[in-house]
Amino acid sequence: MNVDEAIRRRVSVKEYEAAPVPREQVERLLDVAILAPNHRMTQPLEFRVMGANAKRAYAEALAARKTAKIDDAETAAAVREKVLRRHLDVPSMIAVVVAVNDDPEIREEDYATAFMAIQNLCLSAVEMGLGTHIKTGAVMNEPALREALDIRDGQRLAAIVFLGEPAEIPDAKPRAPAAEKTRWLE
Ligand SMILES: Cc1cc2nc3c(=O)[nH]c(=O)nc-3n(C[C@H](O)[C@H](O)[C@H](O)COP(=O)(O)O)c2cc1C
Repeated sequence: MNVDEAIRRRVSVKEYEAAPVPREQVERLLDVAILAPNHRMTQPLEFRVMGANAKRAYAEALAARKTAKIDDAETAAAVREKVLRRHLDVPSMIAVVVAVNDDPEIREEDYATAFMAIQNLCLSAVEMGLGTHIKTGAVMNEPALREALDIRDGQRLAAIVFLGEPAEIPDAKPRAPAAEKTRWLE
């Protein structure tokens, strides 16, 4: 599969088969992720391949956020259960951790590197027949999740990438054609 085809085939996959992703495949994906362009070669990235405890910590942190404003205990318990089930069933999760540089310019460049690494990973996953889904949001800053993933001071959890064999591949979401968004300047 060439890169163009992988780009066109990639979609965010929501439903996965139960089978775990073999370690060698995860290692290959991380090997291409780390090759992302990186201005000044700050090498700001670390990865956490999340085992059952780490996945649970993520699911619990998400559930806590989603249930925080639900007064009814039964409803809250049902929401929590649903969140836990949906997340514990994801075969593999990779946390992408980026250094938070004191210099705002470098900080921004390094954060960009994190998502270039994630795109490398997502595209190579397509080539392997695997699906991915990038997850971010305020939960990334939850202290309990940071602790569970061993995110140190001076580091930021950029995203958690779901990974696994797709049970269902959603249709691609259409984008406006690039030509509509492009101006060719003199
Ligand atoms: C930086 C970034 C953050 C994202 N965060 C989330 C997220 O927190 N939750 C989620 O469900 N999807 C998240 N996504 C996935 C996008 O919603 C998804 O890429 C978008 O809907 C387009 O669909 P596609 O990936 O199938 O093309 C994120 C994507 C990017 C690039």
